[in-house]
Amino acid sequence: MAELSEFSQYVADEAEMCAFGHRLVETICSESHSKGVTLYLNGPLGAGKTTLSRGIIQGLGHKGKVKSPTYTLVEEYRLQDKNIYHFDLYRLSDPEELEFMGIRDYFTENSICLIEWAEKGQGLLAEPDLLVNIDYADNARNIQLIAKSKLGNNIIQHLHLNN
Ligand SMILES: Nc1ncnc2c1ncn2[C@@H]1O[C@H](COP(=O)(O)OP(=O)(O)OP(=O)(O)O)[C@@H](O)[C@H]1O
Ligand SMILES: [Mg+2]
Repeated sequence: MAELSEFSQYVADEAEMCAFGHRLVETICSESHSKGVTLYLNGPLGAGKTTLSRGIIQGLGHKGKVKSPTYTLVEEYRLQDKNIYHFDLYRLSDPEELEFMGIRDYFTENSICLIEWAEKGQGLLAEPDLLVNIDYADNARNIQLIAKSKLGNNIIQHLHLNN
C-alpha cells in the first residue's frame, strides 16, 4: 500500500464525532508505545474540537464531564497511566502565560496533549504529531488528519488499515 499521510472522515453528528474520538485514541494507544503524542485541533468556533476531545478522553475511560478549558487554559486527566492535557488557548492574551505555567513540562513521554487554538501559542508548544482539521459541512463536519511526524504517520496508516 502506498504511504498515505492523510486521512479524511465525514462525521454526521455529535455522536459520530465522539465515536471517532474513541477510534482515534484507540489507534493512538496502539501506535504510540511509550511516546508522547501531540494533536493540534484546528477549525472555526463551534466546529467540534471540544466534542472530539470529549470522545478521546471518554474513550480512555473517563466517566465524568469534559469541561471546555476555555477559561482555565488546560484541563488535566490521569487515565490508563497516561496524562491527558486538554488545552484551549483561545483566550490566551500573552504567550508569556504559557511560560509561567511551565508549558514545556506538559510534553512528556507519558502525555497525550490535545490543543485547541494552538496558533495562539506558536513557538512555545511542542510540534504536533497530527493536525486535526475540522470543517463545517452544513450540519455535519469533515475531519482531515495530516501526519506531521513518524508517529503521526503510523497512526494514519493504522486508521486506513482498519477502515
Ligand atoms: N458533526 C458534528 N460534530 C461535532 N459537533 C457537532 C456536529 N454537529 C453539530 N455539532 C455541534 O457543534 C458544537 C461543537 O461545539 P464544540 O464546543 O465541540 O466546538 P469547538 O470547536 O470546541 O468550539 P470553540 O472554538 O468555541 O472551542 C456542539 O454544540 C455540537 O453539538
Ligand atoms: Mg472548544
